Amino acid sequence: MRTDTGQVFHLEDYKPTDFLIPETHLDFSLHPERTVVKSTLQIERRAGVASDAPLILDGDDLKLVDIRLDGAVLGDNAYIATPDRLEIRGLPENGAFTLEITTEINPTTNRQLTGLYRSSDVYCTQCEAEGFRRITYFLDRPDMLSVYTVRIEAERNEAPLLLSNGNPKDKGKLTNGRHFAVWHDPHPKPAYLFALVAGDLGVITDTFTTASGRHVDLGIYVEHGKEPRALYAMDALKRSMKWDEDVFGREYDLDVFNVVAVSDFNMGAMENKGLNVFNDKYVLADPDTATDTDYAGIEAVIAHEYFHNWTGNRITCRDWFQLCLKEGLTVYRDHEFSADMRSRAVKRIAEVKGLKAHQFPEDAGPLAHPVRPRQFREINNFYTSTVYEKGSEVVRMIRTILGPELFRKGMDLYFERHDGDAATIEDFIKVFEDASGEDLSQFALWYDQAGTPNLAITYDYDQATKTFEIEIEQSLKPTPGQTSKKPMHIPVQFALLGAKGRELKPRSAKGGLVKDDVIHLRKRKERFSFSGIPERPVPSLLRGFSAPVTLTSELTRTDLAFLARNDGDEVTRWQALTQLLNAKLTSNAKRVRGGKPATIENSSIKLLGEIAFNVTLDEAFRALCLSIPSESDIARELGANIDPDAILGSRDALISAVAEAHAGKFAQTYSELARVGSFKPDAAGAGRRALRNVLLDYLSVAESSSKRAATQFKNADNMTDRAAALGVLVQRFGDSDATNHALQAFEARFGNDPLVMDKWFVVQAMQPGNGALDKVRELMTHKLFSLDNPNRTRALIGAFSSGNQTGFNRADGAGYKFFAETILTIDKKNPQLAARLLTAMRSWRSFEPVRREHARESLANIARETGLSADVRDIVERTLA
Ligand code: PHE
Ligand code: ZN
Repeated sequence: MRTDTGQVFHLEDYKPTDFLIPETHLDFSLHPERTVVKSTLQIERRAGVASDAPLILDGDDLKLVDIRLDGAVLGDNAYIATPDRLEIRGLPENGAFTLEITTEINPTTNRQLTGLYRSSDVYCTQCEAEGFRRITYFLDRPDMLSVYTVRIEAERNEAPLLLSNGNPKDKGKLTNGRHFAVWHDPHPKPAYLFALVAGDLGVITDTFTTASGRHVDLGIYVEHGKEPRALYAMDALKRSMKWDEDVFGREYDLDVFNVVAVSDFNMGAMENKGLNVFNDKYVLADPDTATDTDYAGIEAVIAHEYFHNWTGNRITCRDWFQLCLKEGLTVYRDHEFSADMRSRAVKRIAEVKGLKAHQFPEDAGPLAHPVRPRQFREINNFYTSTVYEKGSEVVRMIRTILGPELFRKGMDLYFERHDGDAATIEDFIKVFEDASGEDLSQFALWYDQAGTPNLAITYDYDQATKTFEIEIEQSLKPTPGQTSKKPMHIPVQFALLGAKGRELKPRSAKGGLVKDDVIHLRKRKERFSFSGIPERPVPSLLRGFSAPVTLTSELTRTDLAFLARNDGDEVTRWQALTQLLNAKLTSNAKRVRGGKPATIENSSIKLLGEIAFNVTLDEAFRALCLSIPSESDIARELGANIDPDAILGSRDALISAVAEAHAGKFAQTYSELARVGSFKPDAAGAGRRALRNVLLDYLSVAESSSKRAATQFKNADNMTDRAAALGVLVQRFGDSDATNHALQAFEARFGNDPLVMDKWFVVQAMQPGNGALDKVRELMTHKLFSLDNPNRTRALIGAFSSGNQTGFNRADGAGYKFFAETILTIDKKNPQLAARLLTAMRSWRSFEPVRREHARESLANIARETGLSADVRDIVERTLA
C-alpha cells in the first residue's frame, strides 16, 4: 500500500520525459503467488537531453529479480532499485538501448485490485491510473506511448484462456501442462491501457463488420454457466459500434474486441485497448436477476468503454490533470447513445437528477475541484462526478453554443488532428475554435473554476411596448483554493410561453447576445430584452438543462404550476414541478423540526394527480414526476442545519397526502399497468414498470398495508418488480412478518448469486431509522458478505452511508463511529475503495450542530490514525479542512 508522502503534483510542473519507449515486450509466467514478469524495453533518449541523464522508472511494491542492459547483467552500482523506483545511470552514449527487467509479483495477496491480481481464480489486471508500475518498472504516465507485444504462459488447466490487448499472434502447448499465447497491439498506447486476463471462463461470441468492411470477432467472457446473462451486453456492444460509426464516423480498428467480466473490481469497467475488463455488475443481466436500471447501466457502460477506443485510447491524455479530456467527452458520448436508444427526455432528466444528487454536493463541499484540477495528492481520488459528469456537461455546452454541425466539425477535426496523441484540454478547445471561428477563451473557465454557478433572474414585462426583459446575474461562491471567480460564458436555452404553453417568438432581441433559442450570458449581470411579445409570458429557462447551474428566479407558484402543466420541454417541465415540491418539502422539514405539523395544499396534490393520469405523457416521465424528491434532495435544498428525521417526516407527509387523495385512481392505474406482456428490457416496458412501482409505494401508504407489496413480490416475473416490492416492504413495513418473509424468500432463491444478493444487502442497509445500524452490523457476518469485495462493500456499507439519511446520520453519532472504524479496516485492504466510500461524509458541515459535531469527531479519529493510505489521508484531510 502506498502511504501518504505528502507530495502534491501540479499541472504547471508538466515536463516531457527524457526517454521514449517505442517498443515494449512483456513476458508473463503466471503463478498464483509468484508470477514472473520479464519486460524488454526498446529505449531512446530524446533529442537534446544530456547524455548523462539518468533513466528513472516508476515502481510500486516491486521486487527486482534481474536487470540487463543490451544483454549484459547490470553491475550493482549501475542502478538503484527500491520497491517504488528504478534508477539507472551511465547509459550508452548514443542513447538507444534495450533494457530487460525481471520482477516477481504475487497476484493472490493483491487485495487493492490494481496491478495484476486474482479475482475468483482469474488473473486480471487493472492499470489505470498507476497500476502498471505494480507489474514492472516503467515510465508509467499517459504520455508514454509504446507498441506492446505480450507473451503469456500459464498452467493449461488453471488458465485455458490467455488474453491481452490487440490481435492474437501465436499460441501453443508447452511441457509440464503449461501453454502460452502471444498478443500484439499495433496501436501505440500508454501503460494504463495495458491488460492481461488468464483463467477458465465461459464465452459468448459474435461478429461485427465495420462500415469499411473490417471483420471483427467479438467475445464476452464470463463465469462458466453465466453465458446467457451476457447476451444483452453483446447486443449493446454491437449497437454501440454501429452508433459510433453513424454519429461520430468512428470505426473499430482491431480484428478482435474482447470484454471480460470479473467479480472483484474497484470501478465500473476499464477501457483497455481491445480488452475491456468489466465489473460483472455491468455485464450480467437477465429478467430474473437484473432490474431495468441494471439493463440501462449495462448499455451505458458497455457503450462508454467502447467509445473510449477513440476518445481515450487513440487520443489519450497528456497527463492525469487532463482526465476529463477522455472521461467527460466519453460520458457525453454515452449519454447521447443512451438518449438515442431510449427516450431522450427521460434520459436527460435522469442525468440532471444524477448531476444534482452527486456532482452539485461535491461542488458545494470541501472536496470541490475544477473539471480539470491543477493539483492533486492522489489521482485515484479524482475519478469524480465533477470530472465525469460535469465534464460531460461542459462538452454538451460546447455543442449548445456552436450548434450540432459545428460541433461535429470540431470533433472531426479533433480526431484528424490528434489521432495518436496524448492531448490536453487546450487542444480540445482549439479544435472547436478552429472549426467555428468562435472565441472560446471565456468558455474555457468551465474547466478551471470549481463550484456550481447560480443565476439570479428577474423579469419585467412592458405591456405598452410589448417588451419582455430578462435580467440575469451570475454568481459563484469560493471553493477550496479559489477565492475569487470570473464571470463565465453560460448558455441558457429558453422559450417564452404564452397562454396554454404556446411559444411566443420574439421579433428581435437586444442587450446581451441571443442566438436562436439560446441566451449567451457572459457578464456578471446582463439584460436581455425581447420585443414583439403580445402578452406577459412565462419564461421557460434552462431548457434541456443547458448548463450545470442553479436558478433563483422570481417565478411564482402559479408560474411554476403553469410550466409543470404546459412546458413543451420535458426537462423544464419536470424541473418546475420539482421546484414547487421542494419549496413545500423544505418548509415542512423546518416545521417538523420545530415540532409543528406539515401542511400541504390541495394545489400540489391536484397537480401531481393530473400528471399521474395524463395518458398523453409517457409512463417513464409520469413516474419521474411522481417520485417525490429524495431525502438527500431535500437536504441539499435546505443546505444547512439539516435534520434527516425532520426531512423524512416532511417527505412522508407529502406522500401520504398525495396517496390518500388519489388512492382510487392510483389503484386503477396500477392494475391497468399490470396488463403488459412478457418482460422486455426496453424503454417503454421500463417506463410502465417504473410508474407502476411508484404507485405501489403510494398505494401501500394509502392502504397502510403490506399486502399489495407482498403480492407483487410473490408474483413478480422479473427483478424490477420484485426488487421494487421488496424495497416498499423494507422501507414502509420495517421488521414486519411480511417483510421478513420476503427477505427470506429472496435469500432462498438467490443466495448462491452474490451479485443478485447485493440488492438484498442494499435494501436492508437503506431501512430508515435507528434500526439500520444493527442490521448492517449483523449483515456483515452473512456468509456472502466480505469487505474484500468492492461490490459487497458498496452494497452494504456504501448504501448505508450514502443512501440512508436517517439510519446513517443518527443523532447519537453511532452511524459515523461505526463507519469510521469500517473505513479504517477497508483501508488496510483496498485504499481506493475506502477513500471513495469516505466521500459519503463530504457534506458533514451542513448538518445541525449535534450531528455535525459527531461527524467531525469521527473524521478526526480517522485523520489521527497513523499509516493511513495516501488515498484516505487525502480525502479525510480535505474533508476536514
Ligand atoms: N477509465 C474507466 C472508465 O471511466 C474508469 C476506471 C478508472 C476504471 C480507474 C478503473 C480504474 O471507463
Ligand atoms: Zn471512462
